[in-house]
Amino acid sequence: MGNKVFIFDTTLRDGEQSPGVSLNKKEKLDIAVQLAKLGVDIIEAGFPIASPGDFEAVKAIAQNVSGPVICALARIGFGDIDRAWEAVKYAKRARIHTFIATSDIHMKYKLNKTPEEVLEMVALGVKRAKGYTDDVEFSAEDASRSDLKFLCKVFETAIACGATTINVPDTVGYATPDEFGKFIAGIKAGVPNIDQAVISVHCHNDLGLAVANSLAAVKNGAQQVECALNGLGERAGNAALEEFVMGLYTRRDIYGYDTGINYQEIYRTSRLISSLTGMPVQPNKAVVGKNAFAHESGIHQDGVLKERTTYEIMNPQMLGMVQSNLVFGKHSGRHGFKQRLEELGYHLNDPEMDQAFKQFKELADKKKQITDADLQALAENLMRNI
Ligand code: KIV
Ligand code: ZN
Repeated sequence: MGNKVFIFDTTLRDGEQSPGVSLNKKEKLDIAVQLAKLGVDIIEAGFPIASPGDFEAVKAIAQNVSGPVICALARIGFGDIDRAWEAVKYAKRARIHTFIATSDIHMKYKLNKTPEEVLEMVALGVKRAKGYTDDVEFSAEDASRSDLKFLCKVFETAIACGATTINVPDTVGYATPDEFGKFIAGIKAGVPNIDQAVISVHCHNDLGLAVANSLAAVKNGAQQVECALNGLGERAGNAALEEFVMGLYTRRDIYGYDTGINYQEIYRTSRLISSLTGMPVQPNKAVVGKNAFAHESGIHQDGVLKERTTYEIMNPQMLGMVQSNLVFGKHSGRHGFKQRLEELGYHLNDPEMDQAFKQFKELADKKKQITDADLQALAENLMRNI
């Protein structure tokens, strides 16, 4: 394990729970293949009991994507766990991720269960999953609003029954970095068999703190971080993978941890996911936004021209934002145009490409030189109107 933080990508599960996002099997498979190139350690491929489509997508990913562990989500009941295994069992390395809520508010109002009943369900569910695979993750939903003593008992039980990863979700994005860091330290100190499991965190972004909370958790003993590309996920989303990974890398002087991420694939993966989900990336989005490396003021431009690091703390080329040697204008051909769009992360099908190329030629008639920013604007506009 050393100084590595495992990256658990949940773009295809929690990310797909973003309002308005729905991916078909082929799109999910394309994303999973790209996530493997990106170098994530675990792909949460879906929630098989949720629908036949989700089941088939998890199965297809388990059958066809190699490299990362492939994970399927299940509530703690046997029906969910059996269905998750049916879908994910084809993977070379398969994980079942099972969960139940542990906060008073969820146990009382949502589950209508006592803490003792929840504890018993955890034991039974984790054992059921362990009967299928050695790799079992247990999540205590709404962990950050749970009583710490009870939560530690739940995790101790899950580990004793075979969980190899215990996940601490900040389900409603309520925690703050100092508090969440201490909470993770409290779990590390309060669960006697914690050495037998990886501590994971799963932070939501309701207060815009998901990445900060994940970094604070790592500082206090978390070894796995759950995140989604472009920060997709329920409501305000999950911790953005690209922000967490680049935070850890850029401030390695503070954290001293590495990930297995292939940085060169970050931009391409972000673009692919944006185009397939139809969720545009806001221009000023950290790391992958169109403006993340654009310098408007004269002072900044002057500084960057003299020495890039005056105003850039990351290198856009490291993220796979390739500088093109090609100049685009009205004489440019369709092949080069398509290639450049793909380098920028836009994968258009044939009819979309026809439309994009027509708009490009119209623009080129008005503007002598077409920049990458023009191409991006054209592709974004097209995607918004599909
Ligand atoms: O936010 C959450 O609590 C979840 C769990 C299922 C891990 O997504
Ligand atoms: Zn979540």
